[in-house]
This record gives sequence, structure tokens and C-alpha cells, in this order.
Amino acid sequence: MNNIVILISGGGSNMAAIVKHAEKADWAKRFGARVTAVVSNKADAQGLVFARQHHLATAVLDHKAYPSREAFDVALMAEIDRLGGAGSATGQPALVVLAGFMRILGPAVVDAFPGRIINTHPALLPLFPGAHAVRDALVAGAFETGSTVHVVDAGVDTGPVIVQEAVAVLPGDDEASLHERIKVVERRLLAEVVTRIAKHGLTVHDRKVTIA
Ligand code: GRF
Repeated sequence: MNNIVILISGGGSNMAAIVKHAEKADWAKRFGARVTAVVSNKADAQGLVFARQHHLATAVLDHKAYPSREAFDVALMAEIDRLGGAGSATGQPALVVLAGFMRILGPAVVDAFPGRIINTHPALLPLFPGAHAVRDALVAGAFETGSTVHVVDAGVDTGPVIVQEAVAVLPGDDEASLHERIKVVERRLLAEVVTRIAKHGLTVHDRKVTIA
């Protein structure tokens, strides 16, 4: 079985979109793939409630409980391996999805799952990387921003792009209204990308992404 582990920090609506797709299209039977676990760095992440209701394994690793970024990364890697390795041929998850996971992964984590971590970002990368992408687009006076799904590399939001879609900035938009419209697009793009990867697999070579 190709196991998928999803990392969240909050509401988890992107994670929920993936899980609903997986259930509806019966990935387990059709593609031999399944979402096995949801990991959060926040105990009160709303998405954990959805994950438990959908009978997924969940884990909370509070980054504040670790003495260093490196120590958190080591614990996170072990947890991803444990939850994603169960019942998989490789002993590891086939894919790790950052779906609103608001921590930067250190190089040890990225190297442990090479080319197998993807992220959704609420802007048209390389524009507006970082934790405040929606606010930054508004401050810059952008007339459009959008959503990007990309492979995670050692940089911050610098990995190879898989798919992007623009979202117009409307007169009167504030951060909340613009982010909500972006998230509608994000959920669709991310669920589509993960479906394609569940079906075909993902390879990355010289920053070129192939899903086939
Ligand atoms: C998304 O916009 C994601 O790109 C950003 O945080 C938001 C998470 O939303 N990093 P949700 O938790 O999936 O609802």
C-alpha cells in the first residue's frame, strides 16, 4: 500500500479535501493508496477532529516541547516513518503532504523523504513566499495572486512547482476574504495533485516534476 501522511497546523480544510477525495474515489482499491495519518504541531488544530472522525491515525508533536528545531525535526521524522511506514512495502510513506503546516522543515526531514514531500502555498510562487503570503500580496498592491502546489526542497517555498492557478485580488479585499477565495482554489488543486500522485507516483529529477 502507498501510504500518504498529511501534516497540518490548523483548520485542516485542505487535508479534509484530500481525505474526502480518497474516500469518494476509493483510492485504496483503485490505486493501492491511502491517507494513513494526520500529524499536527498544534494540539488544538481543528483538523484533528475531522481526521479522527474519519478514522485516521493522528499524532500531535508540539514544536514548543522540543529544545531545538533539529530535535523537533528528528521526532517528526520518526513519527512520519512510524505512521506512514505501517503496511507499506518500503517501510516509509510514499508521500508526505504539507497542508497548512506552518513550520519550516529542516534539511534532515527533506533529505529523509527525497522528492516525496509536497506543499500548498497561497500565492503564485516564486512571488510572496513565507508565512504571510496573502498579506504580502495585498501590501504589494498585486492585482492577482493565487495558489501553488510544489515539491518541497531545502529552501522556503522554493521547490519545483507542480501546478499553479491565479486568483484575482478584488477591490475591498482584506486578508481574510482574499485568503478564503484562494483556499477554495487550493483545496481543489491539492486534491487533484494528490489524486494524480496516488495513481501514478511522483518523480523529481533536476527540478523537473513528473507524475506518470
Ligand atoms: C492554506 O492557505 C495554506 O496554504 C496555508 O495555510 C492555509 C491552511 O488552511 N499555509 P487549512 O488549515 O487547510 O484550512
